[in-house]
Amino acid sequence: MGFMDLAMKRYSVRHYEQRPVEQEKIDAIVEAGRLAPTAHNNHPVRVVVCDTPERLAKAALCEPRFERDGSIFGAPLAFVVCAKPDVAWTRSYDDMNSAPIDASIVCDQTMMQATDLGLGTCWVCAFDPEVAKREFNLPEGVEPINILVAGYAQPRELDPERREARRIPLAEFTDVNA
Ligand SMILES: Cc1cc2nc3c(=O)[nH]c(=O)nc-3n(C[C@H](O)[C@H](O)[C@H](O)COP(=O)(O)O)c2cc1C
Repeated sequence: MGFMDLAMKRYSVRHYEQRPVEQEKIDAIVEAGRLAPTAHNNHPVRVVVCDTPERLAKAALCEPRFERDGSIFGAPLAFVVCAKPDVAWTRSYDDMNSAPIDASIVCDQTMMQATDLGLGTCWVCAFDPEVAKREFNLPEGVEPINILVAGYAQPRELDPERREARRIPLAEFTDVNA
């Protein structure tokens, strides 16, 4: 599938089948993340692969709503995408640290690879990073930035027009004054 078709196909999946994701697919998804570019080639990103009930339960504890549900949208797979700000590049002019950018590029490549493999995904930032640090016993200096959940999506009818209506118009997107 071409990239534009893939980008059009992807949507945030919040209902998953219980079917596990095949190990080859998990490996390919992780590899796509590993290949992602990072600022100054510093590679500050680390990923916790949650492919066991124990790890998935830890991921769900990171947000009260998921803890109540016992899972993040019922997904059988999650990636906690972390970054080390001390390793990430810092822009000298304003001290901008690239850790969240690098972690988000990894997350995006991971997400698109999962989409290409026929999986649904949902990018999750609404979680308590302190709980994630504790639950996954993250070493000092490793910051959880994104959680990407993945799995086989429960079938759902999507209305392309409604989806397009929720996107920003092209003229606005390319106009910084808009
Ligand atoms: C950085 C980022 C953080 C997000 N955090 C959450 C989240 O915490 N919970 C959630 O349900 N969706 C989250 N999303 C998904 C967005 O809500 C979703 O991508 C957006 O509404 C567009 O819908 P679509 O993905 O179906 O095209 C996040 C997406 C991004 C890119």
